Amino acid sequence: MGVSEILMEVRDLSVQFPGKNGTVLAVSHADFTVCRGEVLGIVGESGSGKSTAAYAMMRLLKKVGRVTSGSVVYEGRDILRYSDRDLQSLRGSEIGMIFQDPMQCLDPVYSIGAQMVETLRAHRSIDRAQAVKQSVEMLARVGLPEPEKLMKRYSFELSGGMQQRVMIAMALLCGPRLLIADEATTALDVTVQDQILQLLKELRSERGMAMVLITHNFGIVSEICDRVCVMYGGYVMEEGSVDAVFYEASHPYTRSLIAAIPKADPMRIEPLLPIPGTPIDPMQHPTGCVFHPRCAYCMERCRTEVPGVHTVGEGHTVRCHLLDTAAAQHETAGKETVHG
Ligand SMILES: Nc1ncnc2c1ncn2[C@@H]1O[C@H](COP(=O)(O)OP(=O)(O)OP(=O)(O)O)[C@@H](O)[C@H]1O
Ligand SMILES: [Mg+2]
Repeated sequence: MGVSEILMEVRDLSVQFPGKNGTVLAVSHADFTVCRGEVLGIVGESGSGKSTAAYAMMRLLKKVGRVTSGSVVYEGRDILRYSDRDLQSLRGSEIGMIFQDPMQCLDPVYSIGAQMVETLRAHRSIDRAQAVKQSVEMLARVGLPEPEKLMKRYSFELSGGMQQRVMIAMALLCGPRLLIADEATTALDVTVQDQILQLLKELRSERGMAMVLITHNFGIVSEICDRVCVMYGGYVMEEGSVDAVFYEASHPYTRSLIAAIPKADPMRIEPLLPIPGTPIDPMQHPTGCVFHPRCAYCMERCRTEVPGVHTVGEGHTVRCHLLDTAAAQHETAGKETVHG
């Protein structure tokens, strides 16, 4: 991966939510990279920090969330240091976002059409008639029936699934170079889900749109992603190509996620199943490796020392002491051979 290929680079990102009863460490020292035209999946169980990371990347954290370290470099500039004005033009135009909750980005006061036309005209120099035409086309592409009529309706009149699709249409409207989608298809039934995935694939090959897809679903990862990043307790535990992570998973957490996929049809679109053990209590972050209380391979140092990131293959990294120990053993074994 050449430097010029990199579209967005998140480095050492940490986000905390200070509260009365303690501070939630929602994201800790997260690193990931999105190359041009590439689809990066982010998986991990509920509460692992996926949405918080996405919000922080777009500076959409409400006042309660604090970014305590890191940078989000897009095309060579740190979004965390953008002026508000530059940020406005970046959002919605260069980078589209789809949220877990559609009502968060749909305004109940304006009709769907008014919102779409306004968004387009704010970012592109086109006339009203063109903006209306493009909006109707995009509503049709996300599979919404009677798009012309829909333009006149208000978000609260629509079903959850329709709201979700309107939001997807709005995020794609200005032809973003990067789409960040947080559980984009979760609320939709399987047929519509499939239709949206097909649309995203088309836009990717038509326009080279890169994507960050946050999902609970390994089926979606295997169907559309190039690389995947596995989060747990706010940390990126493993990152690599989809094949490397599926077939050569190195982190015990990733392995248990994969082991939980139903064997009959591993690539079927299925949500992640829970793995054994109690999920993290966000107020009581374990010391050392956050996964150690649930890890079958826990060693002494795992209880006290936060593991570093180890490279196990090309573009394949893992945050686990086992790999450090394996490397050390390998080295010792090598020396022993040398000395007879
Ligand atoms: N506004 C907030 N105030 C306090 N804590 C928060 C807030 N938002 C998120 N958190 C906490 O931050 C942690 C990460 O949450 P986040 O929503 O990012 O997880 P997620 O991986 O997106 O989960 P899900 O799969 O359920 O969407 C959790 O412990 C959550 O309780
Ligand atoms: Mg989330």
